[in-house]
Amino acid sequence: MYLDELQLQNFRNYDSLKIKFNSHVNIIYGNNAQGKTNLLESIYVLGLTKSHLLDNNLIQNGKSSCKIKGTVKKNKFKTKYEISYLEDKKTLKIDNQEIKKITDYINNSLNIIIFYPEDLEIIKGSPNNRRNFLNLELSQLSDNYLKLLNEFNKLLKIRNEYLKKMAKNIEVDNTYFQIITNYFVDKSVLIYKMRKKFVEKLNENCGKIFYEITKLPDFKISYVTNYETEDIKKNLLDKLNKNLKKEIKLGSTLYGPHRDELEFYLGNNNLKIYGSQGQKRMAVLAMKLAEIPIFKQFKNNNPILLLDDVFSELDDIKKNNIIKYISEDIQVIITTTEIKKINKKKFSSVSIFKIKNGEIIRTEEVENERTL
Ligand SMILES: Nc1ncnc2c1ncn2[C@@H]1O[C@H](COP(=O)(O)OP(=O)(O)OP(=O)(O)O)[C@@H](O)[C@H]1O
Ligand SMILES: [Mg+2]
Repeated sequence: MYLDELQLQNFRNYDSLKIKFNSHVNIIYGNNAQGKTNLLESIYVLGLTKSHLLDNNLIQNGKSSCKIKGTVKKNKFKTKYEISYLEDKKTLKIDNQEIKKITDYINNSLNIIIFYPEDLEIIKGSPNNRRNFLNLELSQLSDNYLKLLNEFNKLLKIRNEYLKKMAKNIEVDNTYFQIITNYFVDKSVLIYKMRKKFVEKLNENCGKIFYEITKLPDFKISYVTNYETEDIKKNLLDKLNKNLKKEIKLGSTLYGPHRDELEFYLGNNNLKIYGSQGQKRMAVLAMKLAEIPIFKQFKNNNPILLLDDVFSELDDIKKNNIIKYISEDIQVIITTTEIKKINKKKFSSVSIFKIKNGEIIRTEEVENERTL
């Protein structure tokens, strides 16, 4: 799958834009604040219906609506995607037909792997960042995950409301509470299993990729729970029942996938504690690149790889190692401020675009014999 054409209207600093991409490598360069991140964001929004950034100000300042349109080629077929925002109202279309349910749109949408500077938070930040990462990726990889997660969150909310009532000695229906707890455990087990399998798949590749980039061995990711995972259904239920008093006191459910975590290790060292800034960045990048074969396997289609500012803060050796690693059998869109540092000869087919103040021009089209 690759994004053939993208059109933007009143999206952030773009008044109106039409751009045709290379199906292999695309490099977009420009100074700071010209619209590089915004461009990748628009592609991400087109795929996942919402931004990966905290700031959600997608409509251009002073305007009341914006539109993102994209033509995607999948196995020779063309599909048109469109997202428009009118103030807070969002409309989704596939091949000009409105799609009402977000899950229906996402299940048929572009598969995107994005790496961006704030991704560092997946390692540095709170556990929520890590759970969000798992949830976002699995929502793309599985048609059922998002629905399952929504059901899980509803049950969690009801269970927590019950616990809060119990804390205030308000009488509750205990049978119903037990039913909710059982359902909660059922959904928890399903979420755990999907996440665990995903992390196992990541580990099949990410150590090797991390080594290729940094020459450091033994990078791995571990999925951490605060309950026993052997005979998980029974153990989680026991844990909840045994700790009910504590849960009532705190008014919240203390065990389950909403509390699960990821830890990143280089040998025995936890990267969150011992890793340098660069190592953390490369760990996240390795993890994202390790997703490529997983997308191929699960979705039967190549994902589109968006790399925002991937080369910043890296020494030249690592830059080159990354370039070597960029697989050209998928579409890659890379932004950078320094085009000179990139050896274009490393790619067999690459389009280069210059971006200035929300306008983009294609400056070069390079076809090489790949030298690697
Ligand atoms: N809703 C909006 N309306 C108009 N302009 C916006 C809006 N949101 C962001 N911008 C502007 O878009 C410009 C480009 O931002 P962007 O983050 O894409 O830059 P960039 O090229 O990635 O820069 P850097 O190299 O610093 O990362 C900024 O000047 C920003 O203020
Ligand atoms: Mg940027």
